[in-house]
Amino acid sequence: MLQHLQNPVFKVLATIANQTQTEAYVIGGFVRDLFLNRPSKDIDIVILGNGIEFAEQAGRQLKTKVAVFKNFGTAMLKYNDLEIEFVGARKESYRSDSRKPIVENGTLEDDQLRRDFTINALAISLNKDNYGSLIDPFNGLADLERKLIRTPLDPAITFSDDPLRMMRAIRFATQLNFDIDEAALAAIKNQKERISIVSKERITDELNKIILAKTPSIGFNHLFDTGLLQLIFPQMAALYGVEIINGKGHKDNFYHTLQVLDNICETTDDLWLRWAAILHDIAKPPTKRFEEGHGWTFHGHEDKGARMVPQIFAQLKLPLNEKMKFVQKLVQLHLRPIVLAQEKVTDSAVRRLLFEAGEEIESLMLLCNADITTKNEYKVKKYRNNFELVKQKLKDVEERDQLRNWQPPISGNDIMETFGLSAGREVGILKNAIREAILEGEIINSYDEAFHFMLKKAKELGLNQVIK
Ligand code: CTP
Repeated sequence: MLQHLQNPVFKVLATIANQTQTEAYVIGGFVRDLFLNRPSKDIDIVILGNGIEFAEQAGRQLKTKVAVFKNFGTAMLKYNDLEIEFVGARKESYRSDSRKPIVENGTLEDDQLRRDFTINALAISLNKDNYGSLIDPFNGLADLERKLIRTPLDPAITFSDDPLRMMRAIRFATQLNFDIDEAALAAIKNQKERISIVSKERITDELNKIILAKTPSIGFNHLFDTGLLQLIFPQMAALYGVEIINGKGHKDNFYHTLQVLDNICETTDDLWLRWAAILHDIAKPPTKRFEEGHGWTFHGHEDKGARMVPQIFAQLKLPLNEKMKFVQKLVQLHLRPIVLAQEKVTDSAVRRLLFEAGEEIESLMLLCNADITTKNEYKVKKYRNNFELVKQKLKDVEERDQLRNWQPPISGNDIMETFGLSAGREVGILKNAIREAILEGEIINSYDEAFHFMLKKAKELGLNQVIK
């Protein structure tokens, strides 16, 4: 342990503890992360006594400002790149209708017992007689070794004290690839409804941490199996299940979505692209039909899905800004590259795709690649080959026509001036005709070609160029 307390700041805190005869311990995530070799800059210090007073002394010694949160009985200071938070040891009890604790002074063990998980209740002493020793009354170290999320107290009490911890259990299990103790899982199932007293923002914070993990399906499987997903994100839970009519079933869209999500996590760390994977088939349940002689269809699920995105973002308190628009666009277009790859890949289809996807084309291609989850080796090979062809054509077409941020080469004003028109139907017709000719590959995306094409088209409409 001592080697991990090399930072001089620990010596300063130890000296204050000694001089003031106050016990101080490093506790929580920082200690856990030491054992997991995950360097952490957030240090929690628990004081047997007044955490705020201790922090103020530390601030004076370290010559740094201290932020005091009187209501919570905590104080925080920044020292170099570290953020150090001080709190008095607590023996907390909670009201049943709120997450706000009633705080009482407690012993170190009281404080450890009231923490969420054994792996988060490890403490290292900063006191003279046992400086650097690990204090682990609930076998957190053993749980770290056997990769287990377990509560120090009866999990029914730990989760009831703070229902956000149900999400935290699943989040840590996902981030660390740990199991969750059976009793803890059973307790989550039992009191999942208490999640309703937690703010949407905090739930979504945890959800995003799950999504940003290496294998988010671990977390979503737990969320679904415990029943939490059905409460916090029912549209996603509705993807679950297979219906069979006349012996024909469709794939389980919940597990398909998880597979797509895990797949895309191998190619991107971007939270919003990962959200697009979660939402790409979100409208499959409401668009599902069984058509005689045809089987299961989900016609229009990409349009309806795109329309559902703002509502889901609002419900989950995700930002209603360009990130949402990005997700919406990907959901809207997610079938396009794959349809292309299944059919003959024509230049004009590729050009249209590029025109619509714009800057999002690479993300869209990643999503579509992740969406290939068929177990049929032959199909996978065929799709992937065609997919490569689509990619190559995208490159060629982009080089030729630069359609990514397409601006019409001839503006409405140009058209009006050339033919002495005022705004009206003809201007629209000519503009559309130019765009279509470029997308169809009849002309390249340049002013000169577009101008000549426009003159030809105008003649057909009986319009004459005005000579200046
Ligand atoms: N804690 C708790 N119950 C909570 C939140 C936090 O008991 N609902 C305790 C845990 O001991 C935790 C510590 O407070 O280790 C610090 O919490 P926090 O900073 O939220 O989490 P970390 O464990 O540091 O992990 P991370 O930084 O990954 O969120």
